[in-house]
Amino acid sequence: MLQPLFTDFAPHHADLFGRHTVNLGHRFDAADGLFGDAALASLIERTPAQAYHVNTMDVTTHDPNTRREGTMEGLSGAEALDAVRNGHIWILLQQPHRLDGRYAEVLRSIYAELALRVEGFKSFNHKMSILISSPKVQVYYHADVPGQTLWQVRGGKRVYVYPNTPPFLPQAALEKIVLGEAHEISLNYEPWFDAHADVIDLEPGRMLHWPLNCPHRIVNQDCLNVSFTTEHMTRELRNAYAVNYANGVLRRALGLERLARPQSGLGLYARLGLAAAHKYSGAQARRKLGRIIDFEVDPRAPQGIRTVPAFALGA
Ligand SMILES: [Fe+2]
Repeated sequence: MLQPLFTDFAPHHADLFGRHTVNLGHRFDAADGLFGDAALASLIERTPAQAYHVNTMDVTTHDPNTRREGTMEGLSGAEALDAVRNGHIWILLQQPHRLDGRYAEVLRSIYAELALRVEGFKSFNHKMSILISSPKVQVYYHADVPGQTLWQVRGGKRVYVYPNTPPFLPQAALEKIVLGEAHEISLNYEPWFDAHADVIDLEPGRMLHWPLNCPHRIVNQDCLNVSFTTEHMTRELRNAYAVNYANGVLRRALGLERLARPQSGLGLYARLGLAAAHKYSGAQARRKLGRIIDFEVDPRAPQGIRTVPAFALGA
């Protein structure tokens, strides 16, 4: 490893990785040409409408009902960045590695180094997203389906990571998220949860990785933030996914209260089969949520947004 991406990865971090929250130094920064304004403006202009989300929300409270979806149609990348800098929005660019080989190299190099550092870590389905977000905006309490890592490049944010067990993550709620029937931010959040969270002030050059499905929420400092996430699956994570998926289908069909979560043997294989068959049938795709767009990003409007008549964009 000539130039390691991680700056302070000690041997014990390999034992912690995936089991506990780890906070590590990394070398990605705005100066490397991938996360500066010019690179981000160009990426915004190249990202098709289906591959980005623009959201706004009430920054003064934690209320998922205030979250709205928008569009950046017709804006230059520089105008969109202006709106982020002065507004209350975030732009999530999905899969930049599919548009630009330089981001693909970032993603490849991260997982290549993790495979060397963490014994037995064999991951696949690697994906990357870039999040450009306004001062003070929040990402409300939610849980993600795949393994997640958050890399901070510009600005600063406070990240709260909660245990991936009830009452922070009720099993039935997780299954609905895995099935795509409930939005991730539909999870119930109570302020007292914070006393049980890892609370980290994430600065540029730091990353966080937490155990599978750990709920988390984020509050930006009073500055523009640029971060990216990487996600992955492993055989173990894929099996957990399939069990949650199959149990979600069974719970819905049979109204069962308590369902086993086997990690091996016949119960696991039956669930892997059920999840695969159900997905293959397309039954679940038809139940997934669509997106309703009701604002346009406008750098001249208050909070960077202008309300428009609502329209639907496919999931
Ligand atoms: Fe997340």
